[in-house]
Amino acid sequence: MTLLSVIACLVCLVPATAVAQPAIEWPDLTGVTLTVAAGAVGQELQLTKEAAAAFSELTGARVEVLETPDLATDRLGLYLQYLGARSPDIDVYQVDVIWPGILAEHAVDLFQYVPEEEIAQHFPATIANNTIDGRLVALPWFTDAGLLYYRADLLEKYGFSGPPATWEDLTEMARVIQEGERAAGNPSFWGFVWQGNRYEGLTCDALEWQVSFGGGTIIEPDGTISVNNPRTVEALKMARSWVGTISPPGVTTYAEEEARAIFQSGNAAFMRNWPYAYALAQAEDSPVRGKVGVAPLPSGGAGSAAALGGWSLMVSRYSRNQEAAAWLVRYLASYEEQKRRAIEGSFNPTIEALYDDADVLAASPFMGQLYDVFINAVPRPSAVAGERYNEVSTAYFTAVHQVLTGQVTAEQALTRLEAELRRIMR
Ligand code: GLC
Repeated sequence: MTLLSVIACLVCLVPATAVAQPAIEWPDLTGVTLTVAAGAVGQELQLTKEAAAAFSELTGARVEVLETPDLATDRLGLYLQYLGARSPDIDVYQVDVIWPGILAEHAVDLFQYVPEEEIAQHFPATIANNTIDGRLVALPWFTDAGLLYYRADLLEKYGFSGPPATWEDLTEMARVIQEGERAAGNPSFWGFVWQGNRYEGLTCDALEWQVSFGGGTIIEPDGTISVNNPRTVEALKMARSWVGTISPPGVTTYAEEEARAIFQSGNAAFMRNWPYAYALAQAEDSPVRGKVGVAPLPSGGAGSAAALGGWSLMVSRYSRNQEAAAWLVRYLASYEEQKRRAIEGSFNPTIEALYDDADVLAASPFMGQLYDVFINAVPRPSAVAGERYNEVSTAYFTAVHQVLTGQVTAEQALTRLEAELRRIMR
């Protein structure tokens, strides 16, 4: 045996799960109390509380987890109240992928606190997204992309060979399964559930429809306001046609959790949702356990499109314990913690190496199978809109919601929206 082959053999013996992690020496933070503002969708709050307790164990710091509203739009409103008042009451904020431009002025630069090799573990695009004027506004925690959940058992029962490739297929399959299940005695059964409420989640769903029709990304990266075009009209008309047919009339009030409740109780054939819904749908107490498939969203003729979502952790400039808060952020966003969240909650890591981790892939196979969906997810126009993004998105989801609820036609809504976006971006 040559020396080289011995080394090669040793390398191949190292299991995929044992990616060497830089050992971190945690400081003694006894006497420090930190508050983290966190989400509570699905298992989020529980996982964050467990991590907070583990960090306390390691460092002696007390960590309080403040539950924040489920709807991203409402959560931003709450954050801006605290930050606008320069409140020291929250040290760490869980921030959306679309907010760095809005929140940058309130953030500590994490390049000062997080070692380069730790930052380099994350997807470069996410680090770039979170870097505003050369400052790292937040450390990535998990990434999201819109997915199509389907009932594999029902597809088989109705003779479909696989999930729909186009929206047209989805509409037809949903209709057939809905009619069949209702005739078989379940009057509460629906074809397709998604996020139609008037909030940030609708921006994500509608962006997916319009991009998949070739209708552009609302405002293009070069600043062109592109939303008013025939393909987007077509996409919105399609979505409007679902309301009250294959989707419940109440879908225009649904966020992620309302859609999940229906799908997970066994009352929908298809659902658009984020990765977190997978672990819950497959949990021991889930009525649809073992019956759920995950696929890329259907195409409207221009390919499948998944909205890019995800959350990061920001240290507030108004925190009285910025350094300790940065330690907490490093802990929460660490390899081990992201691995735990990927396995227990199917939250997609932002650390690239975890997509080669055998334990992660065993718990959430879709993370490997749909890796391309995550890598190619379509960003909302937050980089180009910067601090005006929330206004842009509000104008967009309001217009889309008016179409879905039949108040205006798609043509009218998009003509008005175009004018409004011009005013906002002027
Ligand atoms: C998910 C996404 C986030 C998005 C939100 C909309 O939490 O990760 O980016 O804004 O859904 O509801």
